[in-house]
Amino acid sequence: MTNMTPVRTVIVGCGMIAAGGYQPRCQAYPKHIELVGFYDQDKARASALAEREGGKVYASLEEVLNDPHVEAIVNLTLHISHYPVSLAALKAGKHVYSEKPISIKTDEANELVETAESNGLKMACAPSAILGYVQQNVWQRIREGEIGDVISALGNFGGPLEHWHPSAEAFLQHAGPFRDVAPYPLTAMTTMIGPVKTVYGFARVAVPKRVMQTGPREGHEFTVKEKDHGFGVLEYDVPQKDGAHGFIYHSFTVTSQLPPYEIHGTKGGFSLQAHDDGRGIKKFTPQGGWQDEPSPEKSFVGLDWGKGVADFAEAIRMDRNPRCNGAQARHVLEVCERILESSDLGRPVDVVSRFPDPPPVGDVAPWE
Ligand SMILES: NC(=O)c1ccc[n+]([C@@H]2O[C@H](COP(=O)([O-])OP(=O)(O)OC[C@H]3O[C@@H](n4cnc5c(N)ncnc54)[C@H](O)[C@@H]3O)[C@@H](O)[C@H]2O)c1
Repeated sequence: MTNMTPVRTVIVGCGMIAAGGYQPRCQAYPKHIELVGFYDQDKARASALAEREGGKVYASLEEVLNDPHVEAIVNLTLHISHYPVSLAALKAGKHVYSEKPISIKTDEANELVETAESNGLKMACAPSAILGYVQQNVWQRIREGEIGDVISALGNFGGPLEHWHPSAEAFLQHAGPFRDVAPYPLTAMTTMIGPVKTVYGFARVAVPKRVMQTGPREGHEFTVKEKDHGFGVLEYDVPQKDGAHGFIYHSFTVTSQLPPYEIHGTKGGFSLQAHDDGRGIKKFTPQGGWQDEPSPEKSFVGLDWGKGVADFAEAIRMDRNPRCNGAQARHVLEVCERILESSDLGRPVDVVSRFPDPPPVGDVAPWE
């Protein structure tokens, strides 16, 4: 849709990913998104973004939510603030696009999805990498039967966060690798295969005391409160007689050399990114082994943070479900929560939430 009025949007939370990812990539889709302002509890951060390309600096969240000119917020605060900020926005009648995880707890995610529905608002959530041309190309070929029946998938993402992220302490105290990075492969898996019905989790706090190695708090020792290392085995809810199974490895302690995302079928497999849009495809066949393929035309190398927001904006104008749907993000969060619960209980745990089938992007993407 090229003739829509752009959705008047405020970025709430103006840290690393707002400055380096969302602001530039939302501005790449001016027909869909108009960044009308910025709010951060640290005013200097909001001012820094406004100084680049204009926009109002809001003094409080209430000021954003009371502004009738604002239609939507993009919630880029830290994990623990996703739920209260998104809920306040939905209650004030604003559409919400949130960074992952949608919330810390599944109960909170249920409330967000239900509040959006009952107020006639759109609730969308990152990650949006599934909208990438590489991911869409692979998904289409899987649907067309190129690798036969899907039998398994694996995902891996993580690494020692305190060595590169200035807010690592908050990530390790309130989210951990399961809530923070497992949404990448889980969103790809649940899109390409289907929902997860049962999980087996094995997770621990491996390194409870850490020292910040970067940023203004460099040298500061902190205590890890969330499990920082582990894996989950997944059973998908699929019609195939023998089912389909998954494995995810997530750690803020060790960087594994497992591929970020693989999907396997009875006739072959694909290996690709679940985090970035581009960076090519590897395909496995029994005859040829693993072979590199070029990325499809138009692929974006890196992560295009704006695509999910552009699709969300079109969903608002067309009154349809956003592709990066809040209900799927709620399911992904529940899978993570159940993995941690299964690890504590020492037995498999069922996942109850489900979500509407996400539609493929199609030949002409909403942002084109
Ligand atoms: N940095 C990355 O590589 C990355 C990648 C993908 C997703 N994310 C996600 O994006 C989110 C933000 O990450 P980041 O790396 O930008 O962190 P960050 O610490 O750099 O920025 C977060 C910002 O939110 C602000 N904030 C926190 N709570 C707030 C509240 N209640 N109201 C207003 N402002 C508030 C902080 O002051 C800070 O400026 C996280 O959920 C993270 O999972 C980050």
